[in-house]
Amino acid sequence: MTDAPLSLQDFTSLLSQFHGEAAPAIDAASDADALEAVRTKYLGRAHGWLKDLSAKLGQLEKTDRAAAGAAFNEVRLRVEATLETRRVALTPARVAGALADPTMPARRQWTGAVHPVTQVIDEMIEIFRELGFTVALGPEAESPWYNFGSLNFPADHPAMDLHDTLYLADDLVLRTHTSPVQTRTLQGYAPPIRVLIPGNVHRRDPFDASHAPTFAQVEGLVVDEGITFADLKATLTHFANRFFGKTKTRFRPSYFPFTEPSAEMDVLCGVCHGSGCGVCKQSGWIEILGSGLVHPAVLESSGVDSEKYTGWAFGMGPARTALARHGIPDIRLLYDSDVRFLGQFAK
Ligand code: DAH
Repeated sequence: MTDAPLSLQDFTSLLSQFHGEAAPAIDAASDADALEAVRTKYLGRAHGWLKDLSAKLGQLEKTDRAAAGAAFNEVRLRVEATLETRRVALTPARVAGALADPTMPARRQWTGAVHPVTQVIDEMIEIFRELGFTVALGPEAESPWYNFGSLNFPADHPAMDLHDTLYLADDLVLRTHTSPVQTRTLQGYAPPIRVLIPGNVHRRDPFDASHAPTFAQVEGLVVDEGITFADLKATLTHFANRFFGKTKTRFRPSYFPFTEPSAEMDVLCGVCHGSGCGVCKQSGWIEILGSGLVHPAVLESSGVDSEKYTGWAFGMGPARTALARHGIPDIRLLYDSDVRFLGQFAK
C-alpha cells in the first residue's frame, strides 16, 4: 500500500508550522551555544526539521512540486535570515570590530586653533603679566559719560565724530573704544594700578580692507605716584621688542582728549625691515598704538587725586597688529571664519 500523496495545502501548513516555531526559538536563544542547539534542531543537515520537510517534497503530486519547492525555499531563506540576525546580535562588539579592515585610512581629525587676533591678545597679556599687569574687563554697552565725558571729551567735540558712534538708546552707546574701562578701573581700585583691558568695540565704519565695524582693542593703564613719560616709552619699547622680536620703535606726537602729551608708536615694518613696501605703504614703519600720559581731568573725573598720582595709557588694535605681523592684505580675511585661511596661523 502506498501512502496517499501529500496535498499542497497540507505541505504549506507544515511549512508555516515550522516557521511559527523556529523563528521565536531563534530569537529566544540567549547565547551562541543556545543558538547552535536551535539551529541543529530546525536547520541541521542530518536530522533537522527542515530536512524532514524537504523529504516530504517527494510525496507531493508532480504538478504541485514546483509551487511547493518555491514555498519551501522562501521559508528556508526567512528562517536562515532570522538566524543570521540573531547570530550578529549575540556577537560581542570586540569580535565584530576585529572583522573591520585594519588597512582602512583613519578618519581625519579636526583640531581647533586659536584665531590670529586672539593669539595677539594672549601674547600681549603674557608679556604685560610679567611686568605686573592684571586683566580688567568692562561692558560693551556703555553710557556716553563713561565712553566720552569721563575721558575729557568736551561736549560736541569733533573727536566724537571720529568715533562714529552707534547709539542703543539716548543714554546708551556701544562703546567706541576700551578707554571707558580706564574710568571704571580707577573708580573701583586705588592706585597703584597696572591693567590690560582687552575687548570688542564698535563704530559706524564701513567694512573694507582696513576697517571693520566691530573690532578688538587692547587698552593699557598705569597709575601710581611719580609715573612719567619715561615709563611709557620704556614699557612700550620693551613690549615691541618682546612681541615683534628685536625691532625699532619711534614715537610721533598725536592728540587724544584723555592724554596729555599724546604719542603714537610705530615699529619697523616686519615685512621690509624699513626699506618700504606695500604693507607699510612705502614708509618703512607700521603704526601700532596710541598712547600718552593720563590727562589730569580723567583722574579727577574718577575721584583720583591728580596732584598725587600720574599715569600713562595706551590703546592698540590687535587685528591691525595681526595684519602687520603676517603681511595679510585685507582685514576682512580675519572675520571670514574660513578655516583654509585661518589654519595657516594655527600653532
Ligand atoms: N581710545 C583710543 C582709540 O580708540 C586709543 C587710545 C589712544 C587709548 C591713546 C589710550 C591712549 O589709552 O592713551 O582710538
